[in-house]
Amino acid sequence: MIRRTRPLVPCLLAVALTATPAALRGQVRVTSPDGRNQVVLEVREGRLSYSLLRDGRTLILPSLLGFEFRGAPPIRDGLRITDTVRASHDEWWTQPWGEVARVRDHHNELAVSAEETGAPNRRFTLRVRAFDDGIGFRYELPEQPGLGAFEITNELTEFAMADNAKAWWIPSDRPRKDRSEELYSSAPVSTLDSVQTPLTMETTDGRTFMVIHEANLVDYARMFLSGPRMEGRTLRAALAPMADGIKVRGHTPFVTPWRTIQLADQATGLAPALLGLNLNPPNVLPSTDWIHPMKYVGIWWGMHINTMTWASGPKHGATTANAKRYIDFAAANGFGGVLVEGWNTGWDGDWIANRDAFSFTQAYPDYDLAAVAGYAHQKGVRLIVHNETSGGIQNYERQMDSAFAQYRSLGLDAIKSGYVTDLTSEGHSHYSQFMVQHYRKVIATAARNGIMVDAHEPMHDTGERRTFPNMMSREGARGQEYNAWSGDGGNPPEHETILFFTRLLAGPMDFTPGIFDILERSSGHARRPEEARVRTTLAKQLALYVVLYSPLQMAADLIENYDHQPAFQFIRDVAVDWDTTRVLAGKIGDYVAVARRERGKQTWFVGAITDEAARTLDLPLSFLTPGKSYVAEVYADGPGANWLDNPLPVSITRRIVTSATRLRVMLAPGGGQAIRIRPATP
Ligand code: NOJ
Repeated sequence: MIRRTRPLVPCLLAVALTATPAALRGQVRVTSPDGRNQVVLEVREGRLSYSLLRDGRTLILPSLLGFEFRGAPPIRDGLRITDTVRASHDEWWTQPWGEVARVRDHHNELAVSAEETGAPNRRFTLRVRAFDDGIGFRYELPEQPGLGAFEITNELTEFAMADNAKAWWIPSDRPRKDRSEELYSSAPVSTLDSVQTPLTMETTDGRTFMVIHEANLVDYARMFLSGPRMEGRTLRAALAPMADGIKVRGHTPFVTPWRTIQLADQATGLAPALLGLNLNPPNVLPSTDWIHPMKYVGIWWGMHINTMTWASGPKHGATTANAKRYIDFAAANGFGGVLVEGWNTGWDGDWIANRDAFSFTQAYPDYDLAAVAGYAHQKGVRLIVHNETSGGIQNYERQMDSAFAQYRSLGLDAIKSGYVTDLTSEGHSHYSQFMVQHYRKVIATAARNGIMVDAHEPMHDTGERRTFPNMMSREGARGQEYNAWSGDGGNPPEHETILFFTRLLAGPMDFTPGIFDILERSSGHARRPEEARVRTTLAKQLALYVVLYSPLQMAADLIENYDHQPAFQFIRDVAVDWDTTRVLAGKIGDYVAVARRERGKQTWFVGAITDEAARTLDLPLSFLTPGKSYVAEVYADGPGANWLDNPLPVSITRRIVTSATRLRVMLAPGGGQAIRIRPATP
């Protein structure tokens, strides 16, 4: 339904005496279908701003909108509203795979056109959508005489927080670490400096949770948020630069990504986060039959704990024989894929400095790609081809078409890409418009060749998987690998309880759970307490398969570490594609418990994790079908288990449960619990 309202300004002039106070101030509003979320747009002293209210309570105070350009005055001042167009939308759509099968896109829309009252009379439209779970808005710059080609030096969008909310944040201003692999801190928003999105916040009264992020980042720079330190509580959009400092080059007509603010009454209401998906265009692939969520093992952890190398030599991990061993293991245990890293030439020497030496088709002599591909095919396993670029973008793009075509001809349909670098070889920020375009090119080229993508050091997730369902998973946070080698002891026990409510709200993460050799004895040396190691119990490693959603879920350990491990059965059983997801309990940074039902099945999986504190959760199983009996297979922290010095005990028990059961879930310090709940058979 589209309803065009009359142009506001002439209308104001004509009815000034009888107009309502809101109209006098030039205010227009759009409200979510449930009536709770409201965006107010208004022009004050020639500047267009928006504010956000929930239940009548202001969350975002009037916040500036606009742009600065090189070689042209900013679009910011002397604006008037010329037109408003309203629409409503209510539609269900189905994800080919995901954390839920069905998604409802239910929103009210308001498109406000604004124009400069003086020359060059540039125009833009701010399109706002109000959903029950948050809002999104984007700028649209139509073709016009006063604005053709442009160079954006700064986006002026502000988020003026009404409350000094508590934020869980990672920094964005580490010049030597232009990535997202950081530990989270929490602090009042007034103290923030420069942070990444998704930025999750809780108001001081605990009534509202808000997440600022973006959606449908196609041809623009990634947005960070510049903090308000010393200046109240206003966060400002800060775009990642290209080598010459320009943020965005474009030409009208042009649309920006959506700026999104997800809203919930409780932390547990933040997931599954579907707002961003609803703000991406529908699937463009003619067929998605070839796209399959899967579990995988890989020649990988050995490199991180230094028992194998990517480079050639006596410890080279990617040998034909080793790959076949992993394929055999995958086939025997029902895993869909095998990742092989270090198979292609370019790893010898400093593979970050020598990034332009990577070949994406030439294998090392001890690795026969065609033979391994054939063997995998014969065993019904997919080979995941590793493409580390080290940020050598031109080198990768030069080879990409022919490499992907070669993979396709060998029947290979998945890549794991990598961008270990600070700046690209062209000097651009990892998150610049140049890189946004690159990541899109990879997804589209992969789609044309029937290839699924798992991107490490990725562009942050803005919901691309809706349009390109071959964009499966990505890293984009501190994953398991930090437990192998980080200089700060590894990920602290609270880490994953924060990830769930922050990074994972953007989309799936290839965290790579499943390390059973928690103390990393297989690395061959006894670790000192301050050295990196896995800081969880073994049961928590299992729970992560349910908690941290990914359609590609790795069993990350050396496969020999799964031998004679009864707990490995959970990893064999756990699903990777879901009909529905329920967050049963959670407090950001402390604990979280999630239940998910396997796609097309009656089997549920529950994962619960805690930080360094032991705790007991009381979880009602009311999500089960009433009147039915189920068998719960429980993998719990065993007696005396704790992450620090006794991480391995797992107690595996079974019991009958129904929808009336309340489970007492006991979590050890740094612990977790994983449960499969399947319909009971007589
Ligand atoms: C970093 C990735 O996260 C990791 O998974 C990979 O093994 C290395 N880069 C090498 O590409």
